[in-house]
Amino acid sequence: MDCPIKDDVVSIMNKMLEADGIILASPNYINCITASMKALFDRSNHFIHCKRLLGKYIVAVVSSGSGFDKPVIDYIKHYAFTCGAQFVGGVSSKVPIDEEKKKTAVILGKKLRSAIQNKKIFKTQMKMIEQGKKHFKHIISARKKEWQDEYKYWKQQNWL
Ligand SMILES: Cc1cc2nc3c(=O)[nH]c(=O)nc-3n(C[C@H](O)[C@H](O)[C@H](O)COP(=O)(O)O)c2cc1C
Repeated sequence: MDCPIKDDVVSIMNKMLEADGIILASPNYINCITASMKALFDRSNHFIHCKRLLGKYIVAVVSSGSGFDKPVIDYIKHYAFTCGAQFVGGVSSKVPIDEEKKKTAVILGKKLRSAIQNKKIFKTQMKMIEQGKKHFKHIISARKKEWQDEYKYWKQQNWL
């Protein structure tokens, strides 16, 4: 994974590659994630092209003024699929967080741990991820020259 922009994004992405589970947490800013998290998503082309988060599990944690955070959780879920990860669930709370929501968050943490330990397959999600892979198979071959690293990775995985 190489990036001409030299900042801390590569170290963050390397940590994501080392992890079995990833907790993506953001406040709700106008029914979306923060600009800094969006910047990370927008630098994820390598993850997207190569489905680098395959086999990993993601959960979303969102805080807000209202507690109405479905669009934010759905967006994080979409990011997970796009990168090949399975989405275990999301928890959101208006601030200050109440005791019930804390319990929900703990249950979600346990679900994440269990998904990792048991290598859980969410069948519908895996279907979508496989469809995404099919879509990229053509693109990777067509852009072989421009996307040499991606092409090499796909070859190494025996996906082509
Ligand atoms: C620019 C901005 C946009 C926000 N948009 C929403 C929103 O659409 N819906 C909502 O419920 N809360 C919204 N909030 C409230 C934040 O989600 C809330 O302040 C944050 O989750 C609480 O964390 P904090 O204590 O670190 O600020 C917004 C806050 C800011 C600063």
